[in-house]
Amino acid sequence: MINVALDGPSGAGKSTIAREAAKIFDFTYIDTGAMFRSLAFKALRENINIKSEEGKVEAMLQNTTLDIARMDDGQHMILDGCDITGFIRTPEVSKAASDIAVIPFVRQWLLEAERGVASKCNCIMDGRDIGTSVLPDADVKIFLTASPEARAKRRLAELKEKGVDVSYDEVLAEMKYRDKQDSNRAVSPLKMADDAILADTTELDLEESIALVCDIIRKVTH
Ligand code: DC
Repeated sequence: MINVALDGPSGAGKSTIAREAAKIFDFTYIDTGAMFRSLAFKALRENINIKSEEGKVEAMLQNTTLDIARMDDGQHMILDGCDITGFIRTPEVSKAASDIAVIPFVRQWLLEAERGVASKCNCIMDGRDIGTSVLPDADVKIFLTASPEARAKRRLAELKEKGVDVSYDEVLAEMKYRDKQDSNRAVSPLKMADDAILADTTELDLEESIALVCDIIRKVTH
């Protein structure tokens, strides 16, 4: 099995780039952020205050099943038997996902699921701690980044396309909140692995970013 770990801050373009690279190499794309988002979505729906009611989050997990379904249009998240893929990209869920990702038992719960999928296929897995903690022996590790302003601009365009009404300032503020929290949490923070290759896409467009990541994968795996 070939495992590619693609980590980096929110809005660096990981999911789009990983999806396209996976097509090119005929690998499975695994979006681990969607797994955190799904759990956050359930916590919000159950009116759990993620920051102050960790006990409730823990109890919730004991009653939760989360599956990944591969469909023609990509990865779908099946939470307790329901397809919730269309509900997990809002700014509210983004923030809650970053909040829930701080909780050690949430990370442990997902770790097993993440390793389980990666062991079964050639994959590109994107997240924050794939190279450092989920797949420390990944064949290729890439840390994808861009300036916060470039990332906020791209995220804004993505959200606008989906009809979500937010301003640039809101997106930039949310991005900085998540950068700070994802990088400073005690367990598995967002951090470049010592053996990862840095890919900075601030000055690159999407095509160039995909080409850069594919070049790295080719060089390391051939
Ligand atoms: O990649 P994303 O924006 O969909 O991720 C949502 C949140 O989930 C992110 O702010 C931090 C958390 N996350 C994480 O802690 N570890 C991962 N491997 C993936 C996501």
